[in-house]
Amino acid sequence: MSDLVAVILAAGKGTRMRSSLPKVLHKVAGKPMLDHVLQAAETAGADKKVVVAGFASEQVAAFVGRRADIVVQAEQLGTGHAVLQTASLLRDYHGTVMIICGDTPLLDGEELKAFYRKHLAAKAAATVLTAVVSEPAGYGRVLRNAAGNVTAIVEEKDATDEEKAICEINTGIYCIESPLLFEALSSITCSNAQGEYYLTDVLASLDRMGQKVAGVTTGDTDMILGINSRRQLAEAEAIMRRRVLDRLMDEGVTIMDPASTFIEPTVEIGRDSIIYPFTWLEGCTKIGPESEIGPQVRLTDVLVGSGSKLQFVYGHDCLVGSKATIGPYVHLRPDTVIEEGVKLGNFVEVKNSHIGSGSKVPHLSYIGDSDVGSGVNIGCGCVTVNYDGRQKHRTVIEDGAFIGCNSNLVAPVTIGEGAYVAAGSTVTKNVPSGDLGVARAKQSNIKGWAAKRREP
Ligand code: UD1
Ligand code: CA
Repeated sequence: MSDLVAVILAAGKGTRMRSSLPKVLHKVAGKPMLDHVLQAAETAGADKKVVVAGFASEQVAAFVGRRADIVVQAEQLGTGHAVLQTASLLRDYHGTVMIICGDTPLLDGEELKAFYRKHLAAKAAATVLTAVVSEPAGYGRVLRNAAGNVTAIVEEKDATDEEKAICEINTGIYCIESPLLFEALSSITCSNAQGEYYLTDVLASLDRMGQKVAGVTTGDTDMILGINSRRQLAEAEAIMRRRVLDRLMDEGVTIMDPASTFIEPTVEIGRDSIIYPFTWLEGCTKIGPESEIGPQVRLTDVLVGSGSKLQFVYGHDCLVGSKATIGPYVHLRPDTVIEEGVKLGNFVEVKNSHIGSGSKVPHLSYIGDSDVGSGVNIGCGCVTVNYDGRQKHRTVIEDGAFIGCNSNLVAPVTIGEGAYVAAGSTVTKNVPSGDLGVARAKQSNIKGWAAKRREP
């Protein structure tokens, strides 16, 4: 076993969320809170992680998968009781157990790592992470002796007025040596104001056993924000969002209006790119340098090259090359590849298609299941007719072809290199390279028809 095991407490129902979803699966910055917490534990160096689940434990276990072990705490009898559920799993473990909560999504893995190092340096049986806050109400208060070691934590509901005046609080994050942790846990009782088995009593118990209990104070009070309500969820969201935007700005990205910009932590953006307001960038979206994204762009899992300009675009699961100009009002659907220098705009939808470099689809078109070469010009209002009601078929438009306005290309069909399609055609047969395809009724004019029509 590794030197560090993380135990993540996540059995609570989260009553104040008023939700059928377990609290720890509510999302912050696009990922469940528990995902952020597991990530922080991993960054801190915990190879082994144990999640204590309770309410909707199957859902929690399904989310956790193989990332951590799960133990079920059938009844929520307190934080001490929760940790006790891991005893059989950690029976043979000699080393540090880091205990954290599943509802603190802003935990910082690097801070946790530093905390673990301080615990080791203090050579303590247990170290608790504390914070000094101006409004300590609701938290456990930290009691220290003359030497500065922690002697106990008193819960708000059990505290005297004098203890309530203490501003150093328990963040609920601990490093405790095993098997001492489980020895101390077996001695705690539920004789307190809430009738619960308090994990915090382990610290007093270790102190009584003559063991050293250290307290390390963090200045990062955002990090310990525990989520109990949807209001706090929104607070965490705002803090996390701002952190991501700050990082990107520090890396050389212009964010014109942070308040209206939503970027998930997984997104990468190159230097000197500009993000205009009302832009959502999600999942594994990557934007190259010197691109201009927004206003009103939503990209989910989209790769964009350098120097591209996108405005009023929704794109998902697709690729956009460099120096492309996309929008306004473009929908890029999955499995689409847009090559360098392509122009798409004004109500254009592209799905499962490849559009070669320098091609233009400037207005009101649907391009689906198509392979469009380079230097192709697709006139206004063209439709690739890709679906016959049973199956999808591909349209091929070779390099340099010109598709006249308001044409339907009924797939499967190929328009050869440099070929033309006359405006208003419904093309059902291939057009060979260099030819003109005309597929529309011939026009005939009826002489003097209008005047006759007007006769009484
Ligand atoms: C706890 C601490 C308090 C600290 C505060 C920090 C105790 C007794 N008190 O109080 O000193 O200041 O956290 O936020 O530990 N949980 C279980 N099973 C249970 C009970 C709780 O898994 O039976 C989980 C909850 O889901 C939650 C975490 O443990 O993730 C903390 O429980 P909670 O009831 O919120 O503890 P607090 O009263 O806030
Ligand atoms: Ca709490």
